[in-house]
Amino acid sequence: MRNSPIEIFEEWFKEELHLTEVRIPTAVCLSTHGTDEFPNARFVSLKEIINDAFIITGPLNSLKGIEIARDNHVALTFWWTETERQIRVQGIARKISEKLADKYFHERDLNSKIVSSICEQGKETKDRKLLEQEMQQRASSKEMVDRPKNWGGYSIDPVRMEFMEFRETRFHDRKLFELENGKWRGKQIQP
Ligand SMILES: Cc1cc2nc3c(=O)[nH]c(=O)nc-3n(C[C@H](O)[C@H](O)[C@H](O)COP(=O)(O)O)c2cc1C
Repeated sequence: MRNSPIEIFEEWFKEELHLTEVRIPTAVCLSTHGTDEFPNARFVSLKEIINDAFIITGPLNSLKGIEIARDNHVALTFWWTETERQIRVQGIARKISEKLADKYFHERDLNSKIVSSICEQGKETKDRKLLEQEMQQRASSKEMVDRPKNWGGYSIDPVRMEFMEFRETRFHDRKLFELENGKWRGKQIQP
């Protein structure tokens, strides 16, 4: 069995990207430990893998940010429909540097930058129309948008990764990798 789960991830991702026509193939479900003890999950976009860590971005003070600040044990779950594969990752999330946050913010399109700048993600709004007007006004002004101080990202260092190849018969192929003393150990697990 190959012993680098990151290499397997990259190979599988490449194979899916080659086949898929979905608009956001980087979508991944991020699960956190909710402050009310319920698990909490939402989709985010995987930006890239740096030094074997999964990078995601967004506001740092929305619910997920609050939850990660309290408990940085998180999970990422991918389901790729073309290759019919699921990948589960559990790992430790740490904030990325300001420099890296600047890089990712710079890559966003103007609308996304404006939304990050005028909205407080997850807070109640009494008037969505007002926000929409502000959005249009800022978009038509074409003014540069600076990265808000609360916008950044997380680098997630995996400690456990499971690769599953879905099989019509339900006799799925599952391989589990766990980090032990800095080394990945892999084993085949039952469907
Ligand atoms: C396909 C998809 C991709 C998304 N990508 C991101 C992302 O990269 N970062 C982000 O903060 N929210 C992203 N969102 C929005 C999140 O699902 C979520 O609504 C938002 O982050 C607020 O979550 P929170 O209240 O738990 O912090 C995405 C949603 C979808 C459906």
